[in-house]
Amino acid sequence: MSNTKTHRIAVIGGDGIGPEVTSAALEVVAATGVSFATTGFELGAARYLRDGFVLDDQTLAELGGHDAILLGAIGPAIGDTRIPGGLLERGLLLRIRFGLDLYINYRPFRATPGSLADGCEFAIVRENTEGPYAGEGGVLRYGTDHEIATQGSVNTRFGVERCVRFAFEKALTLDSPKVTLVHKTNVLTFAGNLWTRVMALVGAEYPQVAVDYQHVDAACIYLVEDPQRYGIIVTDNLFGDILSDLAGAVTGGIGYAASANLNPPRTNASLFEPVHGAAHDIVGTNRANPLAAIVSAVLMLEHLGETEAASRIRAAVADFDGDPVALGTTGITNDILRRI
Ligand code: IPM
Ligand code: MN
Repeated sequence: MSNTKTHRIAVIGGDGIGPEVTSAALEVVAATGVSFATTGFELGAARYLRDGFVLDDQTLAELGGHDAILLGAIGPAIGDTRIPGGLLERGLLLRIRFGLDLYINYRPFRATPGSLADGCEFAIVRENTEGPYAGEGGVLRYGTDHEIATQGSVNTRFGVERCVRFAFEKALTLDSPKVTLVHKTNVLTFAGNLWTRVMALVGAEYPQVAVDYQHVDAACIYLVEDPQRYGIIVTDNLFGDILSDLAGAVTGGIGYAASANLNPPRTNASLFEPVHGAAHDIVGTNRANPLAAIVSAVLMLEHLGETEAASRIRAAVADFDGDPVALGTTGITNDILRRI
């Protein structure tokens, strides 16, 4: 599909290597000839440390009003104690995910040659607005010997169903459509039962899609020892978070893992970001691998209907056979640019 529209992209470079990898990704997008205009949003740890700002309703609405959001990484350096844990995670990233109803976190993995999962391609569809991330719970008698901390997992029929449905729709695009539910239904019986029933109900509408189920602990073994069994993994917010780091590790490293935080009805902008963090230890050293950000931009282009530009970048990334450590950020980016 060729498109003459100028896409309005909100860019949150963020902290650490975030700005380096997002500018590499935008350079690659520009090379395809796709027309876009960016609005930069200075958000994250550096911004908070400067003036105490995290995110407000107006900025959230401005972000949501763009055609897409590209994010690099958010977070302070490890050991920097000036920012309380959770302040940016809950106040910025999760607030965007929840506030813009980005209810799917789609994380595709294609194993690099020589990685543990060499030859495998699969995706995790992570519920992105509920589960233990919902913020249900609280603390009583803080700091005393009688302190009580609860952290509930919220699972709504509506939220689970729209996530499972997305997974089945995604599976239809595979040569061998398959959806595996990963949960811990033997222990988390309330939530597990809801997920299991919804999986069966929705699955019945997709007779052409094979279904499977695994407990999350077993899935950790299979991801390492038999990853070819997967097509689409559908799972809750916390299991999806953990499994996607493991999936990143077995498919070639977190430097390659991309993600799309999607609002499928397109009421708001969707957000595209690498799975990796800010890696402050390598800022400015040209050592950040921009491929995860570049593939995140591919997911963004696909969402924007720029399928031809997306395939060109995808092919360039698939053909990339350089040594990322030797090439560095600019070397990898130039290699991809040369192939487009
Ligand atoms: C991720 C990250 C986030 C998450 C953090 C930064 C809040 O680990 O996108 O996987 O837990 O979802
Ligand atoms: Mn994570």
